[in-house]
Amino acid sequence: MVSRSYSRVILFGTFVCFFVGFLPVVSAGNFNQEFDITWGDGRGNILNNGELLTLTLDHYSGSGFQSKNEYLFGKIDMQLRLVPGNSAGTVTAYYMRSQGATWDEIDFEFLGNLSGEPYTVHTNVFSQGKGDREQQFHLWFDPTKDFHTYSVLWNPQRIIFSVDGIPIREFKNLERIGIAFPKNQAMRIYSSLWNADEWATRGGLIKTDWSQAPFTASYRNFKADACVFSSGKSSCSSKSAATSAWHTQQLDLTSQRKLNWVRKNYMIYNYCTDTKRFPQGFPKECAVH
Ligand SMILES: *[C@@H]1O[C@H](CO)[C@@H](O)[C@H](O)[C@H]1NC(C)=O
Repeated sequence: MVSRSYSRVILFGTFVCFFVGFLPVVSAGNFNQEFDITWGDGRGNILNNGELLTLTLDHYSGSGFQSKNEYLFGKIDMQLRLVPGNSAGTVTAYYMRSQGATWDEIDFEFLGNLSGEPYTVHTNVFSQGKGDREQQFHLWFDPTKDFHTYSVLWNPQRIIFSVDGIPIREFKNLERIGIAFPKNQAMRIYSSLWNADEWATRGGLIKTDWSQAPFTASYRNFKADACVFSSGKSSCSSKSAATSAWHTQQLDLTSQRKLNWVRKNYMIYNYCTDTKRFPQGFPKECAVH
C-alpha cells in the first residue's frame, strides 16, 4: 500500500516535471518565495504570510528588495500603493535590470509630490548600457488611495508598460534600424524607496518633509508569467514560449487607442520631443516611437 502510493507520487512528479520543464513559469504572489529584502535594516518587511510587502523610508535610510529569480522575457505584474500624503522628495523605484557594464533595464519610477498634487511616473529603457529614453506621465487616479497594477510585458518584439491594463508606453524592437534591444540578458526585479529631494520634486525645489516620516510604499499580488533564467538556461524552450500569449502579444487597435489617450492627456515629458536636449536631431527610434 505504502509503496504503491509512493510510486504513484513519483509517477505524478515525473509527469509534472516533464510539462513544467518546458513551459514558462507562472508564479503568483508569495513574497517570501519570490523576493529578498536586500537593504534598509528592518525598514523593508514581508507581512501576512508573504501576501504583502512594505518598504519604508525615514531620515536615516530607505529600503529595497529584489527578486530571487532572473527573467528573460515575460509578463510581470505588481500591485503598488504609493506613499500617501506629502510624499514630495521621495522616489519609489520599481524596475528590472541585468548585470554588468552593458546592462539592460526597464524602469518605472514614481516621484512623490505635495499632498493633492500628482505623482510623476517616470519610465526609461536601457539597452546595452544606453538609456536616455525618458517618458513621464501623470496618472488618471490617485495612486496612494488604493493598490494599482503596474505591468511590464517584455517579449522579443517589444516592451509595453501598462497601468491597470492600460498601456502607457511601447518600446519596439528596432534592431533593423540599428538600435539595440534587450533580449539576451536576464533581468532581476528590484524596488526601492529612497530620498531624492535634491532633484525629484520640481527639480529639487520642494524638500522632503521629515515630520511625515516614516514614508511607506506597499506591494501585493505579484505575478510573473515569465521565463526564468538560471544557470545559463531559460525555463522556456522557444517553442513553448511561443504558445504563451504574452510572447507574441502586441497592441491591438483598442489598446493602441488607449495608449494614444494616455499620451495625449497624461504624458508630461517625452525625450523624443525635447529639442533642447537633442539639438542635433532626435535619436533614431523617435521617428518610429
Ligand atoms: C507635482 O505637482 C506639480 C503641480 O501640479 C506638477 O507640475 C509636477 O509634475 C508634480 N510632480 C513632481 C514630481 O513634481
